[in-house]
Amino acid sequence: MCGIVACLNEGPATGYLLPALRRLEYRGYDSVGIAVTTQDGAVARLRSVERIDALEAAVLRWAGAPLGGAGIGHTRWATHGGVSTANAHPLSDCSHRINLVHNGIIENAGLLRRRLERSGHRFESAVDSEVICHLIEDQLCDAGDPLLAVRRALSLLEGSWAIAVLDAASGRIIVSCHRSPLLLAHTASAVLVASDIAAVGEWVERFRVVDDGDVLELSDVEQHGQSTAGATVFGKTGGVGSVETPGLGGYVDYMAKEIDEQPTAVARLLAELADGVADGSLWRGLSMPAFERLRVVGCGTSLNAGHVIANLVRRFGGVPACLTVASEANSEVVEPDTLCLAISQSGETADVLRAVTTCAQPGTLLGLTNNSHSTLARSADAFLSCNAGPEIGVAATKTFVCQVIAGCALMISALIAVGRLSTSSAAGLVDTMESLPQRLAKATAAAASVVPDIAEKYCTAPGFIYIARGTGVPYAAEGALKLKELTYRWAEHYPAGELKHGPLALIGSGTPVVAVRGADKKLAANIAEVEVRGGHVVSVGTAESTIPVQADLAAPWGPLECIVPLQMLARTIGLTLGWDVDKPRNLAKSVTVE
Ligand code: M6R
Repeated sequence: MCGIVACLNEGPATGYLLPALRRLEYRGYDSVGIAVTTQDGAVARLRSVERIDALEAAVLRWAGAPLGGAGIGHTRWATHGGVSTANAHPLSDCSHRINLVHNGIIENAGLLRRRLERSGHRFESAVDSEVICHLIEDQLCDAGDPLLAVRRALSLLEGSWAIAVLDAASGRIIVSCHRSPLLLAHTASAVLVASDIAAVGEWVERFRVVDDGDVLELSDVEQHGQSTAGATVFGKTGGVGSVETPGLGGYVDYMAKEIDEQPTAVARLLAELADGVADGSLWRGLSMPAFERLRVVGCGTSLNAGHVIANLVRRFGGVPACLTVASEANSEVVEPDTLCLAISQSGETADVLRAVTTCAQPGTLLGLTNNSHSTLARSADAFLSCNAGPEIGVAATKTFVCQVIAGCALMISALIAVGRLSTSSAAGLVDTMESLPQRLAKATAAAASVVPDIAEKYCTAPGFIYIARGTGVPYAAEGALKLKELTYRWAEHYPAGELKHGPLALIGSGTPVVAVRGADKKLAANIAEVEVRGGHVVSVGTAESTIPVQADLAAPWGPLECIVPLQMLARTIGLTLGWDVDKPRNLAKSVTVE
């Protein structure tokens, strides 16, 4: 999704901007651009609706005055206004003095735009962000000073923003944020700003989080940082390698690589966590308060992982647990002694960050994320990394499996610590958990031999239904989500008992129904209901299944092994249909708008 970078450098700004934008690529984008000062006192604005390679080529072709050391850059994921060069950031005002990159959404943009147009401003784009440029232009007439003009313009906005403004007249860069993250860092020669530490982590050891509402000029950053040090969060990048985009390593796409990495990722995670499960020390190490209820908050795949974790807490600990769709959290009633577990691969999902402000009581927010530098990790009272390593494919795969394992390990440890589970039961669960890398590897091999034929058979089907019961339901949900994302076909999941209450009407001759087998034997009757109506059942799980992955049905996290063939099925059908499985249309890796 949208990403921001800005830099004030002794050398050419492009030396930082272009590699930083490339590191933001993994978030997903549909246009990219930079604005950079030129040595004749102007600004060059270069934008592309192609990939960053095209922007780099435009920089190489640049025949104007040499590019200078101040610049801003942006990767855009369209929300307001389609994908076009005119809508790509940096955006500008009427005089092209103000250049701006923006993450977030300006909620009163329509009203502001109408007012600005009535007073003579000419808009070049359909993007909400452009109103900020014209508001600054107006305020400059009165205030004279760009810093003051930006501050005044921002006071007129409603919504969320992280912005970087480059003033062509002075070469000054001003940054600010409100409910959208922005980080500052220094190298020996440059001041850098980014919306995600991944953009600049290679060059810096430490970074500073820009406080909500701050309006800073880059040259003033050192001084400002000192004057507000008490109120400012600093972080360590903890080594650059962790934020670098890995290569394909011989795979044709990242999704294939990341599916194959699941057993290794789980082994690494267990090596880190397993010792602290059965003695409760993993939980105690987080210093969180005891809890009577669990609320899991997340979106998409992360919410599906949360469903698995909630099932375990209910079934094994007898602890009431509920799931909150993050974008619907604002009307929740939170009962006392509720632990809020917010799960987010990126740790930057706006819906999740917003949700936890309303549905987590002070001191009770626990984050589970794959990004230890993220806003969620920084703002939670404690956090646990799911340690899946970099995941580039937009469709979550190994982060899902690692979220499930990390969350279940932590909750078993918590149940021990609060006396709801015996140490011997927990030790047995840890043994079962430790067999998972091998079981996932076997599932991958088993699926590889049967999924291509199944994909071939059903790739022209217009829609799919996924069913399961009990602990299998979150995996059916995740399988259907993967299919939608990668094939652009309808795929819905149902607890299998619900079929007869409506969805059974969808089943006709040849309708593909993917059944995830779990421990509940009643699924067999639901499969029969489908088959007698002509549906084609593709079952996943036990030895007699169409895709026999020999899932451990008794495990408290349910038939986790089943997710591997479901990921592979979605990927294979997506590829057969000619889609880019790493970058599904309309989707982004990091979803930073509500
Ligand atoms: O970064 P998050 O885990 O918070 O993202 C939430 C969803 O956008 C995400 O899980 C999405 O559903 C997956 N990319 C689907 O594969």
